[in-house]
Formats: sequence, C-alpha cells, structure tokens
Amino acid sequence: MSEIQNKLQIEKNIRKSRVGVWFKNILRPSLEANKNSCINFEIGCGHGHWLTSYAQENPSQNFVGIDLITKRIEKASSKVVKRKLSNVCFCKADANEFLEFCDINLSNIYIMYPDPWPKKRHFKRRLIQLPFLDQLAQKTQLGGKLYFMTDHVDYFDWSCSMISESIHWNFTEEKWPHQERSYFQNILPTNKFFCALRS
Ligand SMILES: C[S@@+](CC[C@H](N)C(=O)[O-])C[C@H]1O[C@@H](n2cnc3c(N)ncnc32)[C@H](O)[C@@H]1O
Repeated sequence: MSEIQNKLQIEKNIRKSRVGVWFKNILRPSLEANKNSCINFEIGCGHGHWLTSYAQENPSQNFVGIDLITKRIEKASSKVVKRKLSNVCFCKADANEFLEFCDINLSNIYIMYPDPWPKKRHFKRRLIQLPFLDQLAQKTQLGGKLYFMTDHVDYFDWSCSMISESIHWNFTEEKWPHQERSYFQNILPTNKFFCALRS
C-alpha cells in the first residue's frame, strides 16, 4: 500500500469509528427513551430545515438526518436543541458508511436534491446506484418507502431506471409526505419526485 493509500485508509477508519460511537452514545439511548426502534432517515439533510420541521409535526416517530458536511450537521443539531426536540438527531456521515453500521430498521427514507454529478465521467459518484439500493433495502423494513426528489431531470431518469432494475423496490403512487420546503427546494422549486416501496 502506498503512503497516500495508507493515509486514506486511516482517515476512513477514523470516520467509521466516529459513526460507530454515534450509534452507541447518541442514537441507541434516544431510541430506548422513545420506545420505538424504527427510524425515518434523511440522506443529505443539509442544515436539517426540512427534517426538524417534519419531526416536530410527528412527535411519536424517530428521525435521523445525515450529511457529509460538519457545519451543516452542527446547524441542524442546534435547531434540535432550540426547539427542544427529543425525536430527531443528526450525524455527520457518508450514506454508505452509515448503512454499514446501521443495525436499526429504517421505516422511510428521504433524499431531496442529491448532488446530481451531471458530467458523464462523474456518474459513478451518484448516490443512487444498484448496489446502494440493495444495501438500503437490507436495512429497510418491508413496506418502507424511499422518497426521492430532484430538480435535475437527467438524474431523475437515471434514478427511475435504477429503481426499475432493482429487485427490492417498486414504484408506488404517494404524495410527498411533508409540505415544508427544504433549503434547495426554496431555491429550485421545479422538481420531480417518486416514491418506491420496499417489497
Ligand atoms: C444539494 S444539497 C441538498 C440539501 C438538502 N437535502 C436540501 O434539499 O436542501 C446535497 C447534500 O447532500 C450531502 N451529501 C452528498 N453526498 C452525500 C453522502 N454520500 N452521504 C451523506 N450526505 C451526502 C451534501 O453534503 C449536501 O449537503
């Protein structure tokens, strides 16, 4: 292994162990307190504007948001403290790493305005890929739903074709579950969305 590969591996291990500590110290105690072991899960939650609003309207359910960017997670967490919410928390994590650690059932998953990676050479960076949908399905209860929204038509079509190919997800007719707009939805209100059922 080269020195750079070695460093990258060390960084990856540090990130992973941080997610593990978060599960043990933050999420599990909070789920035990709420006596409900399923979570609504938002990937790429940004500043947590949409998820905190959704959680506030549904105090009997649990909500978790993740994002790659520390400042966004800090802002999201400060909303939780200000509004004194006990059913929502946020974690700085990559979606794939989070799912590796996740031993808790996901009820519904929300992805709003994911990075579209419009250049062909970057398509491999798009979040919605068949292996990712498989991994997500393994952690999602039967009947759980994946809600996806984007302003990017090409990424929308790409994601629809991945869902069609997946053996774990089927399109279902559903309204978007919570009407508050996300930060990006405010800037880019024209969007397309789908809902897919874990079946
Ligand atoms: C365009 S922003 C959308 C933010 C928010 N969903 C909204 O609608 O306002 C995309 C967000 O996804 C996050 N993100 C991108 N890839 C991710 C990944 N693999 N895991 C977790 N978050 C990710 C980015 O850091 C960014 O905050």
